[in-house]
Amino acid sequence: MGRIVILTGAGISAESGLGTFRDEGGLWSQHRIEDVATPEGFARNPALVHSFYNARRVQSAAAQPNAAHHALARLEAANAGEVTIVTQNVDGLHEAAGSLRVLHMHGTLAGALCSQCDHRWTAPPEMVPGHPCPACAGPTARPDVVWFGEMPYHMDEIWDLLRAADVFAAIGTSGQVYPAAAFVQDATRGGAHTIEINLDPSAVVSDFSETRFGKASELVPLWVDEMLRG
Ligand code: APR
Repeated sequence: MGRIVILTGAGISAESGLGTFRDEGGLWSQHRIEDVATPEGFARNPALVHSFYNARRVQSAAAQPNAAHHALARLEAANAGEVTIVTQNVDGLHEAAGSLRVLHMHGTLAGALCSQCDHRWTAPPEMVPGHPCPACAGPTARPDVVWFGEMPYHMDEIWDLLRAADVFAAIGTSGQVYPAAAFVQDATRGGAHTIEINLDPSAVVSDFSETRFGKASELVPLWVDEMLRG
């Protein structure tokens, strides 16, 4: 089966009840990105940003992984060490399904970060402006989520994985946010077979050598079964 890198987006968690960003009624139709997902927005109105992430943190903690998350965990268990999930999602559903090698390139709702001393800790369910950092005591706690204009996490490791991948799959992502949207090109340059599994064609669908359209909870288990059959 070789080395498999799987990029996931909000679409894989949609059937677990967590909203996507750009679908009809998605999060970006309810909130302006510049207000809740930028450092400037946080500086301008930390209470609004904390309440946006508090609501998602509580909702995410109550959500259950769906058949797609479980299928990816099954793929990793059968092929440990050769399967890595790179997720744009900040929920913990891959881990809840049993996946171990998960790189959260946009951070996690479960994490808190001190913008003064870079200390990281597990976020409480609700964070408020001026929340003290347990390490430096500064009133400088923020969600450990990567905002627009900030550098995603684990990028060097991700680019190494993409260059070495034999298979690259993108699941439940619209392909509208970089650098994730260009991962398929990086994997192709490295000689990987690339597949998009998505409800609708993404913005970069033409970059993939194979595409399957439908619900992740239906298509991902079928794809994993095929991969396990070899
Ligand atoms: N099964 C499979 N795909 C689905 C499903 C489903 N049940 N429901 C929705 N989708 C697909 C949609 O067709 C869409 O292409 O998931 C994709 C969701 O796209 P977005 O809402 O743009 O989410 P995502 O691609 O993860 O956004 C990337 O943008 O705002 C930033 O940081 C945020 O990580 C996020 C990034």
